[in-house]
Amino acid sequence: MPTSRPLFIPIILGTPRHGRRSEHVANFMVAELRKREGVETVLIDIRTLAFPITDAGEAIKDAQFSATVMRADALVLVVPEYNHGYPGLLKHVLDTNLKEYIHKAVGICGVSAGGFGGTRVIENLLPVMRELGLVTIFWDGNFSSVQNIFDATGTLVDQTYLKRIDKFIKELLWMARVLRYGRENIPRE
Ligand SMILES: Cc1cc2nc3c(=O)[nH]c(=O)nc-3n(C[C@H](O)[C@H](O)[C@H](O)COP(=O)(O)O)c2cc1C
Repeated sequence: MPTSRPLFIPIILGTPRHGRRSEHVANFMVAELRKREGVETVLIDIRTLAFPITDAGEAIKDAQFSATVMRADALVLVVPEYNHGYPGLLKHVLDTNLKEYIHKAVGICGVSAGGFGGTRVIENLLPVMRELGLVTIFWDGNFSSVQNIFDATGTLVDQTYLKRIDKFIKELLWMARVLRYGRENIPRE
């Protein structure tokens, strides 16, 4: 049941690392979201955001990044697991917004070389999402042994991920619609 105007759901690629396999996951998620009627998306690559590191938070806002998040109805975070945590640069980037996130849905895709699909990094991100005012969905994307899911060119070789990610996207779209309705129709006081 698409609403009258498209949902806007940017995908944030959460590592700047050269050789990052998370890029394959992010591109896959962009392609899957683009298949859905009534959805617009854009890839935000944190490598391209030149935030200073001598300050933090809203003091170093990037006007375009903040405007994109403000326009968003939901976000997808594609996050590699680094020593069970999230890349520090991703946190630095996320910290530059606050009001832009409030009452918007977020789904997290964990990416790992190991067999746990980034579950530990996802768990570690949940309290951060809550503090930012984002509303987490209860499905995750878990890309275990990511080196076996895509080939070197980024082509999906494990087709089971199409079905797995379908559930994630359906839940994300539902939550994005519910929260857009709430933001636009239900007074906060
Ligand atoms: C600093 C660092 C720490 C890592 N720690 C973990 C880890 O805790 N668990 C795991 O499964 N893989 C770990 N990996 C492997 C990544 O999950 C793997 O590189 C995967 O491809 C996703 O990261 P990428 O997008 O940077 O490639 C680590 C990689 C780096 C660079």
